[in-house]
Amino acid sequence: MFNSIKWRLTAIFFSVTAVFLFLMGFYLINSMEQYSFQNTQSRVLSYARLVADDLRDSFTGKPSKNYYQDYAHRAKNDINARVTVIDTSGKVLGDSTLDKDTMANHANHPEIKAAMRGGTGQSLRYSTSLRERMFYFAVPVKSDNRVLGIVRVAIPWSEIQAGQNHIRFTIGTAVVVALILMIIVVSSFTSSLVVPLQEMTQVAGEIAEGKLDRTLDVDSNDEIGALSRGLNYMAERLRDNIRQITEERNKVEAILASMNDGVIAVDCNGNILLINPAAERMFNIKYENSMGKGVIEVIRNYDLEKLLQTALMSEESITREVQIFIPDPKSFRISTAPLMSETGVVGVVAVLRDITAFREVERMKTDFVANVSHELRTPLTSIKGFVETLMDGAMEDPKTAAYFLEIINDETDRLNRLISDLLSLSKVEAKQGKIRKAALNLDKLIINTVSILSPQASEKNQILNVDIKIPLPVINADEDMIGQLLINLVDNAIKYTANGGRVDIRAERWNDSVKIAVSDTGIGIPRDSIPRLFERFYRVDKARSREMGGTGLGLAIVKHILEVHSGRIEVDSIVGQGSTFTVYLPAGNDPAF
Ligand SMILES: Nc1ncnc2c1ncn2[C@@H]1O[C@H](COP(=O)(O)OP(=O)(O)O)[C@@H](O)[C@H]1O
Ligand SMILES: [Mg+2]
Repeated sequence: MFNSIKWRLTAIFFSVTAVFLFLMGFYLINSMEQYSFQNTQSRVLSYARLVADDLRDSFTGKPSKNYYQDYAHRAKNDINARVTVIDTSGKVLGDSTLDKDTMANHANHPEIKAAMRGGTGQSLRYSTSLRERMFYFAVPVKSDNRVLGIVRVAIPWSEIQAGQNHIRFTIGTAVVVALILMIIVVSSFTSSLVVPLQEMTQVAGEIAEGKLDRTLDVDSNDEIGALSRGLNYMAERLRDNIRQITEERNKVEAILASMNDGVIAVDCNGNILLINPAAERMFNIKYENSMGKGVIEVIRNYDLEKLLQTALMSEESITREVQIFIPDPKSFRISTAPLMSETGVVGVVAVLRDITAFREVERMKTDFVANVSHELRTPLTSIKGFVETLMDGAMEDPKTAAYFLEIINDETDRLNRLISDLLSLSKVEAKQGKIRKAALNLDKLIINTVSILSPQASEKNQILNVDIKIPLPVINADEDMIGQLLINLVDNAIKYTANGGRVDIRAERWNDSVKIAVSDTGIGIPRDSIPRLFERFYRVDKARSREMGGTGLGLAIVKHILEVHSGRIEVDSIVGQGSTFTVYLPAGNDPAF
């Protein structure tokens, strides 16, 4: 408290003013006392001289016995002081207070001595007769420069002192009052300085704590007003800056959050500084739990850790492909860049792109090419073998030749089917997004398809049954593609069902879709093969499929056709009992259909 400006200012003002006032008071008291004393002295002396003048004649004449005594008594009432008349021998002639005859000779009193010599005398003494200190003034009664007698006027010292005390009291009171007033004025003045300062201190503290909307009311034009305005301006600039920084941060956060690529930043020690939501999803981790931890602790991948360490040391951008197995096996292409500050590298930021799907597509492409080559080579090898045998002489035997040619013909057909299936597949794949859809009546299309395939069924003595619950909703689809889809499913059903079996095609409305189910009483499909049926060239039993003239592409084509029509397919099958392939196609929602 005593450190505050208020107290310091008050103390300085107080001590300076107090010293000044005390010095002034002292001087005033002194001079006033002197003045008052001189005033009393001159009053008493002039009275004494008056009395001396008045008595001059009596000294030359013959006054009565009690003349001076009576005169003194009268005079005492005039001046309210003790009046004594003394002759040149020191003998008291009259006294206003005591009986003159009882009084001793006064010739030795200093004031009397002085008056005897013709001057004025004065003396402060204790009066044994009156028992108090008295101030005595004595003047000679003169005639022609001869001293005839002495008039002495005495006033009690206490009376003079009372006057002086009064002066002291008045001036002392004035000094004290002035000091009190000064304290009040100074403390209210310093308050007017200090209160705004205290308010500023409080507001500055609140601003520092983040309450940036706090401002100071400025109502003065002095330095304190300027300081308040400065503080308000500073807070405003701070608000602006923080808003800008927040905006920037939000922008960066939004960018990081919307990225599909994972972003991980680490400091020089390899501890995580930042992870974006994509990276959180990739590694099934949480930013809050990973902050400040080592990468190896959080992602548990040695290659990633090593890559980041290399990047930290080399201070260059590095791109590398890394396999990460937790939580799922995945391939990432990771690009790193050093985080630079004025002092150098402070960390590394890594951008992780999940290229698992890309790698898978690549693998599938390679597999496909290998499969296609293999599928093409098999019939070609067979054809070449028979042609060579024919050329080597088998041609001579017409029976064998006819048999060989039949095989060659079959193999050529197979090649044809294979190529046309490949073309269909690449067509549906290529057509994705730009197919010719139109309103399509499924009942007609189903009946057409079945009639195309019915000779094949009757050859195997199979019952081919169609059951359509009319009316079927119209669908919005490419007629050729849906036709191909139906042919593939019904063809499979006939192919993989033994002679005398049964194939059922049922179509009906199913909520907002059309449901077409193709069931057979055929060989069925093992449970673990079902998920792979729609892969290209996948066949449960390769030899059997070949024997049946299959290419292994039919269901792959079906899958693609359904994809471009937003449809789906379900497979139910029991080995040895039969299979059901159920297709759902969304009903066309255009009222024109
Ligand atoms: N109705 C079905 N019954 C039993 N197996 C089937 C049926 N439909 C398809 N499959 C199995 O699925 C495989 C893939 O069919 P698909 O792609 O049409 O090839 P493909 O008919 O040329 O062999 C077939 O080889 C066969 O093993
Ligand atoms: Mg097929």
